[in-house]
Amino acid sequence: MSLLDLSPDEVLTTTRAVRKRLDYDRKVERKTIEDCLRIALQAPNGGNMNSWRWIVIDDPALIARVADLYRGGMDDYISTFDEAGYPGAGVEGADRIETSTMHLRENFHRLPALLLPLIPGRTDGDGGPGHVFYQASQWGSVIQAVWSFMLALRTRGLGSAWTTAHLWRERELAELLGVPHEIYMQVGLFPIAYTLGTDFKPAHREPIEQVVGWNGFAPGGAEGS
Ligand SMILES: Cc1cc2nc3c(=O)[nH]c(=O)nc-3n(C[C@H](O)[C@H](O)[C@H](O)COP(=O)(O)O)c2cc1C
Repeated sequence: MSLLDLSPDEVLTTTRAVRKRLDYDRKVERKTIEDCLRIALQAPNGGNMNSWRWIVIDDPALIARVADLYRGGMDDYISTFDEAGYPGAGVEGADRIETSTMHLRENFHRLPALLLPLIPGRTDGDGGPGHVFYQASQWGSVIQAVWSFMLALRTRGLGSAWTTAHLWRERELAELLGVPHEIYMQVGLFPIAYTLGTDFKPAHREPIEQVVGWNGFAPGGAEGS
């Protein structure tokens, strides 16, 4: 498999949440997924303990069942909204994000493959200590690898989107896949598919002048709302 001709900075700035431009009909070879996982597992993890676990789902019947949980999880999340609706409704491009999110939701069962990363040690009060140290250490010991996985997909002409909606049904997915739920937290659920075209652009982000403080806190964020 040849790699796209992208500089490191281009890979880092154009790896997008891809939902509408996923090729839901094209099969993804296991070797490609394994290549991306080998790269991902070079990411740092606390104490190099390698305590993460990864589940790749490429059985269409299983994907269909996971899709039901994804959709159900999204419904659970939506049912928590008050009259103001979706908390991110005011951000730039919110309409596009919503239609794209709905597109993925409606087509989730057609995805060729999924990745479910796991990290042991629950920090949600369901058996694990909630101290920020443990939370940061545990999430920090897997999230970088997941992002590396998404970057490795991008360089090979594939795409993904970080998704967490199914976590409202995390226990059901654990049961379906034989994951010991009391020990392992699920990081998210990651579509794996070729993209339709490979030209992606940098996205809107608040400028660094607004969000970065030199030698101190930059006010004007969540504390002002
Ligand atoms: C922690 C996290 C959770 C997310 N959950 C979902 C999700 O459940 N479903 C979905 O379609 N997109 C989800 N997204 C994707 C975001 O909506 C997306 O990253 C955002 O719109 C910005 O897109 P961009 O990264 O291409 O700029 C999630 C992203 C993150 C980082």
